[in-house]
Amino acid sequence: MRVFITGGTGHAGSHIIPELIAGGHEVIGLARSDSSAATVAELGATVHRGSLEDLDGLRQAAAKADGVIHVAHRQDLLPSGGMDAVADAELPIMLAYGEALAGTGKPLVAAGSIGGPGQDLGRPATEDDPALPSREEDKGTLRARNVVERAVIGLAEQGVRSSIVRLPLVAHDTTDTAGFLPQLITLAKDKGFAGYPGDGANLWSAVHIRDVATLFRLALESGPAGKYWHAVQDEGVSFREIAEGIGSRLDLPVVSIPIDELMVPGYFGALASLATKNYPATNFVTRQTLGWEPLQPTLLVDLDNGHYFPND
Ligand SMILES: NC(=O)c1ccc[n+]([C@@H]2O[C@H](COP(=O)([O-])OP(=O)(O)OC[C@H]3O[C@@H](n4cnc5c(N)ncnc54)[C@H](OP(=O)(O)O)[C@@H]3O)[C@@H](O)[C@H]2O)c1
Repeated sequence: MRVFITGGTGHAGSHIIPELIAGGHEVIGLARSDSSAATVAELGATVHRGSLEDLDGLRQAAAKADGVIHVAHRQDLLPSGGMDAVADAELPIMLAYGEALAGTGKPLVAAGSIGGPGQDLGRPATEDDPALPSREEDKGTLRARNVVERAVIGLAEQGVRSSIVRLPLVAHDTTDTAGFLPQLITLAKDKGFAGYPGDGANLWSAVHIRDVATLFRLALESGPAGKYWHAVQDEGVSFREIAEGIGSRLDLPVVSIPIDELMVPGYFGALASLATKNYPATNFVTRQTLGWEPLQPTLLVDLDNGHYFPND
């Protein structure tokens, strides 16, 4: 299959390109700069010069391809506009792909978030839980992006084999340089202890990014239209265990942060709203439908591998 991919230089995309090539696909990767073009070429893909801002270019690239994988995101918009701004930029991109692919049955696989069905559901999220529709009631959280997820799923009704791969908060490996796990490690170093909220029993799901790459390939190759897939290996690791893993590696104490201190800009700062929440999720439908089997190390094993602590 001739596959157009965006975000090929990023944490997820840099694993997806080699996974696709190893699977026998021809890959065309979007690149907005000379250095991104060099990275895309080194990974073995053909370079398509352009950017997420050029909707016509994206539409044309999608129309020429047999399938599209979209994992780029306008992270540059986060500081000024939050997730709403990122989602606002992403929606027209998805609709442009929709125009290019409508009626063809070709696959469009885009990245989403395990936070999509909502946090603190009281049970693990499943693939059958839709992205929550509202963005007005819950501004500034992961839910803003759900408008985009629903738009992608909606393209199935227009003859696009569209699906969303939901990623957990932690997608770990050596290329995870800016995710929540490195941010928690930096916090622990800065504060001199590894904190966890309350009793630390809240659960975060996690996955190794190489298993994510395999899932994108499987969804592209054979995933039915209009589905959410869960890129989840650890269905729920307690926050306390994550803090203990960090503390053990850094040889720092592991300390509970009382719940009533969490909402002031204390230990977790901007991460407070995520750090206190539950994001467990199951992967049964994904495994059963696509035959996906996560094979890489789990979160706590990978955390203990040492690559997150190069100088410690
Ligand atoms: N990583 C996680 O743990 C995690 C968790 C939940 C959801 N997700 C979602 O999964 C997706 C992939 O995440 P990631 O961690 O792989 O992202 P990442 O490492 O931040 O990579 C972002 C990619 O987007 C490209 N990009 C940004 N702005 C662009 C623009 N204006 N034009 C063209 N390309 C542009 C970047 O290209 P350059 O090289 O040119 O900068 C880069 O390839 C995202 O949608 C993310 O929100 C990730």
